[in-house]
Amino acid sequence: MAKKRATKLPMLMFLFLFLDLPMLLHGEELELLLSFKASINDPLGFLSSWTSSAGATFCSWHGIACNNSSRVNSIDLAGKNFSGGISDAVFELKYVENIDLSTNQLLGEIPRDFLSCPSLRYLNLSNNNLTGPLPSISKLSRLEKLDLSNNMFSGEIPDNIGLLRGLKFLDLGGNVLVGKIPNSISNITRLQVLTLASNKLVGGIPRGVGRMKSLEWLYLGYNNLSGEIPGEIGELVSLNHLDLVYNNLTGKIPSSVGNLSNLEHLFLYQNKLTGAIPRSLFELKRLVSLDLSDNSLSGEIPELIIQLQNLEILHLFSNNFSGKIPGALTSLRRLQVLQLWSNKFSGSIPEELGRWNNLTVLDLSTNALTGKIPKSLCNSGRLFKLILFSNSLQGEIPKSLSSCKSLQRVRIQNNRLSGELSSEFTKLPLIYFLDISGNDLSGRIDGRRWDMPALEMLNLAKNNFSGDLPGSFGTDKLLNLDLSENQLSGKIPRSFGRLSELVELELSQNELSGNIPEELSSCKKLVRLDLSNNQLSGEIPISLAELPALGLLDLSANQLSGEIPPNLGVESLVQVNISHNHFHGSLPSTGAFLAINASAVAGNDLCGGDTASGLPPCKSVKNPMWWYVLTCFLVVLAMFAFAAIAMVFLRRRKDLELKRVENEDGIWEIQFFDSNVSRSITIDDILLSTREENVITRGRKLGMQLVVKEIINDVNLNSPSFWSVIAKLGKVQHPNIVRLVGICVSEKAAGFLVYEHVEGKVLSQILKNLSWERRSKIAIGIAKALQFLHGYCSPSILVGELSPDKVVVDGTDEPRLSLGLPGLTCTDTKCFISSAYVAPESRESKDMTEDSDMYGFGVVLIELLTGKSPADMEFGVHENIVEWSRHCYSECHLDAWIDTTIRGHAGNDNKHRKEMVQTMNLALHCTAADPTARPSASHVFKTLDSYMSPTSCVSILHFS
Ligand SMILES: *[C@@H]1O[C@H](CO)[C@@H](O)[C@H](O)[C@H]1NC(C)=O
Ligand SMILES: *[C@@H]1O[C@H](CO)[C@@H](O)[C@H](O)[C@H]1NC(C)=O
Ligand SMILES: *[C@@H]1O[C@H](CO)[C@@H](O)[C@H](O)[C@H]1NC(C)=O
Ligand SMILES: *[C@@H]1O[C@H](CO)[C@@H](O)[C@H](O)[C@H]1NC(C)=O
Repeated sequence: MAKKRATKLPMLMFLFLFLDLPMLLHGEELELLLSFKASINDPLGFLSSWTSSAGATFCSWHGIACNNSSRVNSIDLAGKNFSGGISDAVFELKYVENIDLSTNQLLGEIPRDFLSCPSLRYLNLSNNNLTGPLPSISKLSRLEKLDLSNNMFSGEIPDNIGLLRGLKFLDLGGNVLVGKIPNSISNITRLQVLTLASNKLVGGIPRGVGRMKSLEWLYLGYNNLSGEIPGEIGELVSLNHLDLVYNNLTGKIPSSVGNLSNLEHLFLYQNKLTGAIPRSLFELKRLVSLDLSDNSLSGEIPELIIQLQNLEILHLFSNNFSGKIPGALTSLRRLQVLQLWSNKFSGSIPEELGRWNNLTVLDLSTNALTGKIPKSLCNSGRLFKLILFSNSLQGEIPKSLSSCKSLQRVRIQNNRLSGELSSEFTKLPLIYFLDISGNDLSGRIDGRRWDMPALEMLNLAKNNFSGDLPGSFGTDKLLNLDLSENQLSGKIPRSFGRLSELVELELSQNELSGNIPEELSSCKKLVRLDLSNNQLSGEIPISLAELPALGLLDLSANQLSGEIPPNLGVESLVQVNISHNHFHGSLPSTGAFLAINASAVAGNDLCGGDTASGLPPCKSVKNPMWWYVLTCFLVVLAMFAFAAIAMVFLRRRKDLELKRVENEDGIWEIQFFDSNVSRSITIDDILLSTREENVITRGRKLGMQLVVKEIINDVNLNSPSFWSVIAKLGKVQHPNIVRLVGICVSEKAAGFLVYEHVEGKVLSQILKNLSWERRSKIAIGIAKALQFLHGYCSPSILVGELSPDKVVVDGTDEPRLSLGLPGLTCTDTKCFISSAYVAPESRESKDMTEDSDMYGFGVVLIELLTGKSPADMEFGVHENIVEWSRHCYSECHLDAWIDTTIRGHAGNDNKHRKEMVQTMNLALHCTAADPTARPSASHVFKTLDSYMSPTSCVSILHFS
């Protein structure tokens, strides 16, 4: 044994001769750097020089700098597109003073303890995806700059941060930090820049803040800080930039701010500050920007503001300021942006405003200003936004503005401006938005060349303009054109058809005459077309029916005549008014005219529509008298024809009437909604079927199988309301709804419903095996059915309990919804009122509404997404599936809640992933606790359809 030890000793001695201790450490640094390299992805190959080839030292590696004794002193690898987890290795380099890994995509947590990096002075890890709590950095006594901004650090700011006495720069902004700002922070008296903005911090601003006398930049905005701004803030005499925006700060602005003699930027907007601006604030002679907007500040702005000669931006909008706009503003030569809107300023705008200023943006809208628009507003030659709407300004639009070529956005509507629009004004080259509606402007707007090539929105409504419509506005970008409520006359120019971007055309309440030009149908993007209250004549151009996006069409109160084009409303039209014209013939049977209101069709010679239209039914066309006289043969033929038609008609009517029949079970009342069924099915067929799986086999002859369901709860089968619901349901015909074809009720209060049999599977049974594509198709189909029931049936038909048990998916993946009889029957053994698919408010009140249907649909969507049903027991602390989903959606990764069988799709396909997230968002809207917050069925259908179907097509709806 002893011998063995003796042989080893010289070996060790030998090693120490060649490797001294510093060399060992050197090797350790090499290992650490290589370990760092190994942990990250380096797509652009910045670290390709990092190899341990003989001879080369790491001091020459990219991004590394060494000190005199060849130890790593600095690592600078900002913005290198690195991703992957950050390794602890870099933080174990004992001599490193500077680490900059900012602006990469590094993930993971950084070590809790920096003990092994005692020399660190500058640490910049900003703009990465680092998570976890802030490290305990209090031991880094030499640290001067710490930038951890724009990561995902969470938890509280550690209390011992105050021990970093040497820190000059601290930026923790853009994380998800919670809790209060620790008081100890004020012990960092050398701090020059402090940013804690964009976190979730609460509580007050520490009073000790005044001790950080070196602070030049204090940015605490976008948190939820509350309480008053401490007066001690006035002790920060070096402060240049103070930003406390988007918090919940209350009370007055402390008058001590007047001591911040170096302040150039003061931002306090979006808080709850009250009281007047302290007079001392106007001592801040260096102030360049002052933004106090969106508070509840009040009082007048004193002429003292003249002292702020460096001011460039003044935002005081959305407060309660009153009194006059101080004339002193006119002498602030650097003033560029002046926004005082939504206050209670009165009196006139200072006459000289703009003369000596450098104005670019002026917004004084929504005040109580009177007098004229000053002439000199555009003296700077830079004014591009002029917003003065909703005041009581009078007089003409100053001539000087007509030569203000920099103008881009002009909104001076809702004043009392008068006079004419100069011909120079309509040639301003950069204006894209011009709203001068609701004034007393007059004169002709034709007979001049409009040359406004940038114009997208033009509103001249509610003035006294006269003359013809201009044929062109010198722009092909116009989206909105509103000339309504003037005295414009003449024809609608055919050239309007060239406005290919037009979305809205409003010409109502003028004196326009002539035809509606067919060319308007070239404006393919048109959504609203209002030509009402004019003297337009002629027919509706048939091509108007082809406008693919038209949603509103108002032609009321004109002299239009002829028939309504039969395909009008096949496309997107939802709101149409053709009242008070000279139209004749029948209403089109398109979606837009279904259930149309009487007021929208009145004052014509029309017929048809359902009962809501208030119009007489259309008579079949009779052959004229002279035809009888002319040829006897034809008379006879016609009579035969009439007789035949009448027989079919009568037979059909008879088929659909309520029939009474008697059999061994007593007297039955039977009503069918389909004449074919009526002719071939008898009460005995129905009763027989109840003994044989409820399928009526005889129905096969009809090309339609029928199923029978018993009405099992105690409904008053004789009540008129029951029969009216049944009659309504009998009329429903929609590709996504199972048809009710009949009902029979016995005197003994037994009853059966007869439905069309759909070949397919119940959704609840197959849901788990479906792909995402199939699930989304099903969701869209159900939404379509709901849209039909709520929107096109008047009054709307409710589903009651919308659950996957009620949906049959047929061979082509179309879902078919079976309707129960809300409030009348339970189609299942358990009654719907207690079901998890019924909105909470309806469970209590037992009162179903459209909103409660939408809740049910929301739960079905959740089920399609998560594969979980409300009956599952795995929602943990969450009360139910909806609460659980709400939590998951906001807190967890998609993979945590999406059904495992469709997760694969989500992983590989961004489109699906996005659809799933959007669908969950929609589901959560549908299941909002507040019924009024739930979207309508048509909104839901449109939303789903817009992002899911590759080729969205609107189905043609049937309502027999
Ligand atoms: C980093 O986080 C952002 C925001 O959460 C995210 O959009 C981005 O994809 C993340 N990057 C990586 C590499 O994870
Ligand atoms: C500031 O530092 C002093 C001296 O170390 C200490 O006594 C005091 O508690 C610290 N203040 C805060 C608020 O941490
Ligand atoms: C803002 O502060 C008020 C009173 O200090 C408090 O009632 C309110 O909840 C706070 N708002 C938010 C969003 O924290
Ligand atoms: C006016 O504003 C422009 C920038 O919009 C600036 O370059 C110019 O120096 C300003 N003039 C004065 C007198 O402040």
